[in-house]
Amino acid sequence: MSKIATLEIDGKKYEFPILIGSENEATIDISTLRSVTGGVTTFDPGFKNTSSCESKITFLDGEKGILRYRGYAIEELAEKSDFLEVSYLLIFGELPTTAQKQQFHKDIQKTALVDEDVKKILDGFPKSAHPMGVLSALTSALTAFNPKSVNVDSEGDMYRAVCKILGKFQVLVAWTYRKEEGLPLAYGHNSLGFVENFLKMMYESPIEDYKVNPLVVEALDKLLILHADHEQNCSTSTVRVVGSAHTGLFASLSAGISALWGPLHGGANQAVIEMLEAIKEDGGDYQKYIDKAKDKNDPFRLMGFGHRVYKNFDPRAVIIKETAERVLNDLKVNDPVLDIARNLAEIALNDEYFKSRNLYPNVDFYSGIIYRAIGIPVPMFTVMFALGRLPGWIAQWKEMRLNKEAISRPRQLYTGETLRPFVEESKR
Ligand code: ACO
Repeated sequence: MSKIATLEIDGKKYEFPILIGSENEATIDISTLRSVTGGVTTFDPGFKNTSSCESKITFLDGEKGILRYRGYAIEELAEKSDFLEVSYLLIFGELPTTAQKQQFHKDIQKTALVDEDVKKILDGFPKSAHPMGVLSALTSALTAFNPKSVNVDSEGDMYRAVCKILGKFQVLVAWTYRKEEGLPLAYGHNSLGFVENFLKMMYESPIEDYKVNPLVVEALDKLLILHADHEQNCSTSTVRVVGSAHTGLFASLSAGISALWGPLHGGANQAVIEMLEAIKEDGGDYQKYIDKAKDKNDPFRLMGFGHRVYKNFDPRAVIIKETAERVLNDLKVNDPVLDIARNLAEIALNDEYFKSRNLYPNVDFYSGIIYRAIGIPVPMFTVMFALGRLPGWIAQWKEMRLNKEAISRPRQLYTGETLRPFVEESKR
């Protein structure tokens, strides 16, 4: 039996249906609120209580530490799948058959060349430019080189657009990095797997062969899977909002990259390493920083600890912790900053302050450590996050268009001046 929510305004009652999701989540459908009440709206800054859309892509339960893509548990996907397959799953809704997967990889590879003129755009950026700004601009510029808009109602057209962006985006990411490092811009090779190829594009030097380390491939593959989607977060909502104006795929993705850039969103992994470096510079006394984090008169917080949504544990952090340990051990990384990270995590996990508040290392704590161990420079951390989140953004953009969602256009509570007469310049 369907449930109803009743709202009373000035003695008048209005009824709204309560929609129940497939995981029994309830949401009040207020889509008729303005019309039936004559203009009343709801006020929800930051959309903390608002379901902005209906989606079949990702399910997340922060209280129980659950994250699923298309119904598959993140733990199983991280263990048994790979990033390419997870991308297909998110975007097209089902795990690919062997033939579909091979074809998907081939079709992505075919598009993994970027117009040589893009290099001229890249040349125009100063070396000091933040890589997220460069990546956002280059992704938007892809529209200029691929001006035909995607017909979302054509499966073939949509499939080709998906392959194109997956193929070209990794080249743009690698070029963004190489530009910063002053390295010649390189291409990958179609004989390699998706992640191996990406690593080759990033790190290959013109003066020696690049050997891909399988452990690094495995760690990066896992990290990309764990970051691939997280339902209606800030950058994903941005992609959907921009795309709701029927803005093209590449331009919508570019907007998502800009949203992810912010330190409150994708920038947290960078903040972790910066904190660890600051502790090292200060003599490496991590206990002092644990005490600072516990001191209510000190604004310092342990970066990479706690999470707004996951209140018991971050399922992604549980998975990646073990990978981080293996990467550090197997690569025999000798880095005092990473030693500080280990000690800090161990102390905090056994400390009553952190235990009683359910504060444990989140995914960004460990992803920062892995990126550092495999030689990715700190300003590139958020770019790596963008590479992982790309299939999620594409899936959400596609779903939004196929759902024929209306243009996103929220209302506001106006608290400014009411009508007043214009004041002549001489009288102001
Ligand atoms: N270090 C020390 N104390 C902390 C920390 C921390 N990292 N995080 C929370 N606390 C304490 C708070 O002081 C508060 O203590 P109190 O109850 O005695 O007042 C209690 O834990 C609850 O904290 P809230 O701020 O209410 O938790 P909230 O859910 O609002 O914040 C957040 C979550 C923003 C992630 C917070 O834990 C934090 O600032 N963490 C560090 C930054 C970080 O790692 N961000 C990345 C998150 S992952 C991501 O966004 C992809």
